[in-house]
Amino acid sequence: MSERWTPDSWRTKPVQQIPVYPDAKALGEVEAQLAAFPPLVFAGEARNLKKVLARVANGEAFLLQGGDCAESFAEHGANNIRDFFRVLLQMAVVLTYAGALPVVKVGRIAGQFAKPRSSPVEKVDGVELPSYRGDIVNDIAFSAQSRTPDPHRQLMAYRQSAATLNLLRAFATGGFANLGSVHQWMLGFLKDSQQSRRYKELADRISDALNFMRACGLNLESHPELRATDIYTSHEALLLGYEEALTRIDSTTGDWYATSGHFIWVGDRTRQLDHGHIEYFRGIKNPIGLKCGPSLKPDELLKLIDVLNPDNEPGRLTLISRFGSDKIGDYLPQLIRAVQREGRVVVWSCDPMHGNTITATSGYKTRPFDRILSEVKSFFSIHAAEGTHAGGVHLEMTGQNVTECIGGARAITDEDLNDRYHTVCDPRLNAEQSIDMAFLIAELLRHDREGKVKPIPAVAGF
Ligand code: TRP
Ligand code: MN
Repeated sequence: MSERWTPDSWRTKPVQQIPVYPDAKALGEVEAQLAAFPPLVFAGEARNLKKVLARVANGEAFLLQGGDCAESFAEHGANNIRDFFRVLLQMAVVLTYAGALPVVKVGRIAGQFAKPRSSPVEKVDGVELPSYRGDIVNDIAFSAQSRTPDPHRQLMAYRQSAATLNLLRAFATGGFANLGSVHQWMLGFLKDSQQSRRYKELADRISDALNFMRACGLNLESHPELRATDIYTSHEALLLGYEEALTRIDSTTGDWYATSGHFIWVGDRTRQLDHGHIEYFRGIKNPIGLKCGPSLKPDELLKLIDVLNPDNEPGRLTLISRFGSDKIGDYLPQLIRAVQREGRVVVWSCDPMHGNTITATSGYKTRPFDRILSEVKSFFSIHAAEGTHAGGVHLEMTGQNVTECIGGARAITDEDLNDRYHTVCDPRLNAEQSIDMAFLIAELLRHDREGKVKPIPAVAGF
């Protein structure tokens, strides 16, 4: 691995989950075009994110990462983006208050298009076709033409990402993210929700805090700290040809950055030490994530950390564990101990979605809300026991009122799944379930904080 790195050195290694395009010439033309397009993000932003993630690693901030399992071309619209961002901000306010910590907001958005699949083919009524691999690769419709990988879809994905990111930036700084209005939405939301009684106390305390600031003469809309926020983008960097085309040298430092998003992660299925994905990731300077599932052995993790973060730079590496509520207790502690023993600095984040997917009797793929919550709870208690920081969560969620995960305050049942099951990939928490989850995580954060806060020593003589 000490060999020279270039944006295309991954091509000399074996790779998993990358489609074979029938028209290699068309693919090459698309990649050349992408390579000439403007970057979607600026390296300085990725560095800022790395800095705040270093604070997360140190227990001084909390990471909230969430969004669609897979973005789709068909659902690209302003309302969708706005509704997602609104829910993410509502969650962030609750967590910021409860944890008394800054919340780092990272969307699985503006680039989350490529999907790894457990089988390269799908069989329906005796007909076998290539699996759907996300809108950046092929179309979900079950026909030979739709399922053939089409490189021009990468141009569509690039343009959709640019438009999505543009709107998010506008929302983040243009007044939409104003703390006062975000809290106002929350009060409106709680008024007609079933959780209201349970969460009213926390919401009231936030109202009090804002009213206190107003009474002191602070205009919430005139201070950038209260009026604006930072939103970062992230996705699984699976389709390496696309990533390579958007890998650029930052002129201020001379370093290579992935400019397809601020933060990219390697999936649990593509993290083989000697394969192409790890090769690509080791050379870019962005903050990155590594998904950790039950098959990851502690010594393998340490080897991956050696390659991905050789200088032990805080904020560079986020370990996103996804074991399942019934397995996290068996797997997470040994990873934490190995990392601690070797003195490696990482952000620990919990993906409570991917280890808790089941097939409902109705045939739908779903995730029980209780199992999701249970994995998050175990994540917090395991970190408390190991003396490490429960740094953040990674959720599949949407601002839409879908019925994909069962349970939650409104108790979506197996029979309800059929009503609004819209995901093109995995089941997501809907708006209400997401906010519900935020309040429950807030309780864990508050508990954590109370356990840690040292009483302020009394001053002698008073
Ligand atoms: N700027 C702070 C932050 O981003 C406070 C803030 C403003 C905020 N608007 C927000 C926090 C919306 C959460 C949600 O954290
Ligand atoms: Mn998923």
